[in-house]
Amino acid sequence: MTAPLVLGIETSCDETGAGLVRGHDLLADSVASSVAEHARFGGVVPEVASRAHLEAMVATVDRALAAAGVKLAEVDGIAVTAGPGLAGALLVGVCAAKAYALALDKPLYAVNHLAAHIAVDQLEHGPLPRPAVALLVSGGHSSLLLVPDVAGEVLPLGATIDDAAGEAYDKVARLLGMPFPGGPPVDAAARGGDGSAIAFPRGKYRDDTFDFSFSGLKTAVARWVETRREAGLPVPVADVAASFQEAVADVLTRKAVTACHAHGVMNLIIGGGVAANSRLRALASERCEAAGIALRVPRPGLCTDNGAMVAALGAELMARGVTPSPLDVAADSALPVTEVVAGLS
Ligand code: KG4
Ligand code: ZN
Repeated sequence: MTAPLVLGIETSCDETGAGLVRGHDLLADSVASSVAEHARFGGVVPEVASRAHLEAMVATVDRALAAAGVKLAEVDGIAVTAGPGLAGALLVGVCAAKAYALALDKPLYAVNHLAAHIAVDQLEHGPLPRPAVALLVSGGHSSLLLVPDVAGEVLPLGATIDDAAGEAYDKVARLLGMPFPGGPPVDAAARGGDGSAIAFPRGKYRDDTFDFSFSGLKTAVARWVETRREAGLPVPVADVAASFQEAVADVLTRKAVTACHAHGVMNLIIGGGVAANSRLRALASERCEAAGIALRVPRPGLCTDNGAMVAALGAELMARGVTPSPLDVAADSALPVTEVVAGLS
């Protein structure tokens, strides 16, 4: 019997994503991003994102179907991000998914965005190891999770208490005169710099919780740059970028490895937009190897928000016979990470 074909829809932030997955096979991944429309504001503007989702939704799904060479009628189930994310943006995807599910008379899985970030790794590296620890770092979230089973049991270990890691990248980039989103240009600039040039603070790196804090680091970078400018000295952009990046990668990888040890877990999965970061990837692989932990990081295109990750989780849920969401399920901007499928309780 062939595995069910699942359409995944993602609209939690500024990417309108539609993906098609059968089992662990990715058939299509179509993404329309409104990031350029937010650039001049230096961050995502919720109303602008919602409108862009509305305009891109049907065309993005149609593009995914065409790329996969399948007809809408062949889809066996619909998965959509129910939360967490921007309320108005989520609403567009959830309404679209309900319409597809109703029109096709197929099950609807309103799923958790963070669980989808983990499940996507199955498309690249096969079945997820159980249990695993997941580090999810993006513009909207920085979470450390214990994942006994992505289809049913995802437990929070820690999260950022202020800025998300990606948000810190975006703010430091702005300070250094780089465009939004700031991750890629800071990463690129850092390649030419020395990560040990400036000893920026490591935030909550020494405490014994698995929470993160990046607001102090961001302020320290701002102060350091301002002091140089006020003294009429040039700002060594590459060294600032590399030293900031080293602080972020150090804290994230250290906490992730400690979490693995604390829970006796030998598998770490990293996802989210910041997982595209070259230093984070290198340091994570170095530290995991030293600790005997197997590391899995999807390719950058699957780390950022996309529909394939939602389809990947939907396909897993369907294959396991998990109860679908009711058609009156609501988008929930603060959906708890423990709720993998929304609307079941
Ligand atoms: O997962 P994502 O596409 O969207 C959400 O925020 O959910 O992540 C976007 C974030 C942005 O803050 C961006 O600056 C960051 O990921 N990012 C990076 C890199 N590429 C993207 N941060 C560091 N290094 C990168 N290479
Ligand atoms: Zn995300």
